[in-house]
Amino acid sequence: MHPRLTLENVSYSYPLPGRKEAAAISDISLRVEPAEILCIGGANGSGKSTLAQVCAGLLVPSSGSVHYRDKKVESHKDLLELRRKVGLLFQSPEDQLFADTVERDISFGPRNLGLRGADLEARVWQAAASFDISLEELGGRSPFSLSGGEKRRVALAGVIALEPEVLVLDEPFISMDFDSRQHMQTLLGRLRDDSGTSIIMITHELSGAWSLADRYAVLAGGRLIYQQSRAELISSEPDLIELGLRLPQWGVLANRLEKMGIVVEDPADPQALARAICSIREAADGR
Ligand SMILES: Nc1ncnc2c1ncn2[C@@H]1O[C@H](COP(=O)(O)OP(=O)(O)O)[C@@H](O)[C@H]1O
Ligand SMILES: [Mg+2]
Repeated sequence: MHPRLTLENVSYSYPLPGRKEAAAISDISLRVEPAEILCIGGANGSGKSTLAQVCAGLLVPSSGSVHYRDKKVESHKDLLELRRKVGLLFQSPEDQLFADTVERDISFGPRNLGLRGADLEARVWQAAASFDISLEELGGRSPFSLSGGEKRRVALAGVIALEPEVLVLDEPFISMDFDSRQHMQTLLGRLRDDSGTSIIMITHELSGAWSLADRYAVLAGGRLIYQQSRAELISSEPDLIELGLRLPQWGVLANRLEKMGIVVEDPADPQALARAICSIREAADGR
């Protein structure tokens, strides 16, 4: 089976009038498989939002190529198809929301696709339900009057209403409290499980994607420097710190235990960490 989305040696430079162009992303190759969740971490200015927009077809690479399934994006028609298949959640929900009510906001995309009447209504209700939005309660409200977490869920429902096969999330957890984050993670996991949507989660905080991602990549200075598993990421802690990224507490703890000579079977598994900690206690008690 083909990957859903493939980038081959993609670079993008913003045009800067009168100045030499500097590449915001350089020579990036990556692929996303069906129903895979890929986390891309990177510090501020590393090129995350630029990469997100290239994946979603809003920016066209200065060099290199984007492939959707087995098709290279070449013509304008291909680009429109890419935009339809890859949904992008912008870094700031305010950049995405625009209509005077939540319901109109979510229905904008499917209405543009030509859906009307019961089909449109069903699509909008389903999209709202997959992000736990009650249209009875919130449908008539202005999206701008909602809490940060609600705004992001409404923006996501609007993206999902177009039934994308790949979802690109640019900093989806920024300025959300712990409960809203957990809630959002559960909903995203469910979306992947139920619809097989591939998700690219772009973040400067690795902890937000920790329990959810299948694979991790790191962006630094516009280049993709690794693509690896959670366990491999944990062993790269010193490099991550150098790049302005932090491991979640689990990972830091796993590394400390290993330095103390305590074996952690799977450093990415919190249960394995708990067992390793219990083994210290048992050794101290002489059991
Ligand atoms: N619209 C733009 N015009 C010119 N340069 C930009 C623009 N947007 C981003 N950049 C530059 O591209 C680089 C990467 O930015 P960005 O993709 O926003 O990174 P991140 O999302 O990781 O913070 C930065 O050097 C930034 O200044
Ligand atoms: Mg950004």
